Amino acid sequence: MAYHQLLDATVNYLEGERSHGRRHVNVNPEKLSVLLRPLPKHSAKPIAETACDSMADLRAQALTCTRCEHLVASRKQVVFGVGNEAADILFVGEAPGADEDAQGEPFVGAAGGLLTKMLKAMDLAREDVYIANILKCRPDTPNQRSGNRAPTAEEMTTCSPWLHRQIDFIQPKVIVALGKVAVGGLLEMENAPITKMRGTWQTYRGIPLMPTFHPAYLLHKETMQNKRAVWEDLLAVMEKTGLPISDKQRGYFLNH
Ligand code: URA
Repeated sequence: MAYHQLLDATVNYLEGERSHGRRHVNVNPEKLSVLLRPLPKHSAKPIAETACDSMADLRAQALTCTRCEHLVASRKQVVFGVGNEAADILFVGEAPGADEDAQGEPFVGAAGGLLTKMLKAMDLAREDVYIANILKCRPDTPNQRSGNRAPTAEEMTTCSPWLHRQIDFIQPKVIVALGKVAVGGLLEMENAPITKMRGTWQTYRGIPLMPTFHPAYLLHKETMQNKRAVWEDLLAVMEKTGLPISDKQRGYFLNH
């Protein structure tokens, strides 16, 4: 397990203990001395194969990526990401769908419409945040005429270094992980229990990460309870990033 994963797992464990009101943990002094050692140099190494000095460099490399032959064969284009490269908030989804593959921009289809509305409710525009996906290419569906499929674990492992490097450049204050694939991809969990995890702060390489439902799930299960849950997660994100919250915003869904 990589050093940053151990560190994140430790932080998540301690936050869990604190949220249960526990103020003390028993730590073996030997293990504590390991944790106190400085971060090993190799964890700061660039993840992409060739060094990139800027997001523009990284984008140029990603746009010609040929790591997954099957996706290179089926994609129209690589969907790198969009928005403010110095954003406080990064939204991460799963993978491009047909609309995103056609337009080269994440979240431009139906789920994207809802994401844009969610941002508007936060008093933000798409240009204020950064939006990206775990996978940069649309997962192929060779025996299907339409629809999408979830990325495989192998595709996610192959592609995620691009996202990790994007995050290194953006250095957001908060990451919002949209749905179980994004949560699993970022926190390296095989089957992230999104219903249980949503609304609970996690940590990705020291950055607070809020898991919430994917907008496509909300469109599919448009219950007041789900909408309210996501809005509460977004209010927590606004609080964490110091965005002003009006009474009107606090009150959305309160009577439901
Ligand atoms: N769903 C995602 O997860 N990402 C997109 O870009 C579009 C839909």
